[in-house]
Amino acid sequence: MAPSINAGKGTAIGLSYAAQALAVVGAALVLIWTIHFRGGLAWESSNKGLIFNLHPVLMLIGFIILGGEAIISYKALPLTKQTKKVIHLVLHAVALILGAIGIYTAFKYHNESGIANLYSLHSWIGIGVISLYAIQWIYGFIIFFYPGGSESLRNVSLPWHVLFGTFVYILALATATLGFLEKLTFLESSGVAKYGQEAFLVNFTAIISILYGTAVVVVSAIPVPAEDDFGYSAI
Ligand code: HEM
Repeated sequence: MAPSINAGKGTAIGLSYAAQALAVVGAALVLIWTIHFRGGLAWESSNKGLIFNLHPVLMLIGFIILGGEAIISYKALPLTKQTKKVIHLVLHAVALILGAIGIYTAFKYHNESGIANLYSLHSWIGIGVISLYAIQWIYGFIIFFYPGGSESLRNVSLPWHVLFGTFVYILALATATLGFLEKLTFLESSGVAKYGQEAFLVNFTAIISILYGTAVVVVSAIPVPAEDDFGYSAI
């Protein structure tokens, strides 16, 4: 086994610890923002802002962070390939479901507040991202898990699965960044101080999310020994 590949395994594990730390910080910041600064979270409330608050929480913790954990699970966990494959697809499924619920909360907030739907670049790209994520999951499930494609189809599909998955994940990060920007711009035009605590908190939450996503993408790109690496095969 080449020494550089072995070194890759150590780097991947080390960087995945950094990713976990960034995930905890990002999750804490979005909760502090929505609960402490924006009044809390609610599914039903006469204060419609509390319904909206579920949106960034579910999109960051549910979609971006859990989706990122699904991506790095292949490199970060000392388990068999088959176990990691199940963890990968289950975490992605949970991320997809929480992401869909998160988008629903934005629609619910708009509908109950008499605000139009789908008017922003953020929302358009957001619909694209969740749709591509769902397509990627369904294709991956059918080809690599059940019923499973032929060996040649799996071999041809794997690099495209990795490339397309990375592309969709980066697009999801960009969408979340646009969301933070858009919400903070709304808040600043209704009186929140441009250099105040809340503005810094929101901008730093976005920066931590980008750093987390960067760690995820780098970990997934590091070559590791074959027995630890991606190795999709139909069960
Ligand atoms: C990848 C993650 C995200 C996706 C896929 C996403 C998707 C969406 C979609 C589809 C809507 C449209 C809802 C409607 O028209 O009724 C929306 C609304 C909204 N989202 Fe996100 N979102 C994400 C993350 C975030 C984050 C982290 C924030 C930060 C606060 C945010 C802020 C907003 C705001 C302010 C709206 C209402 C205004 C608008 O429709 O653009 N989003 N989001």
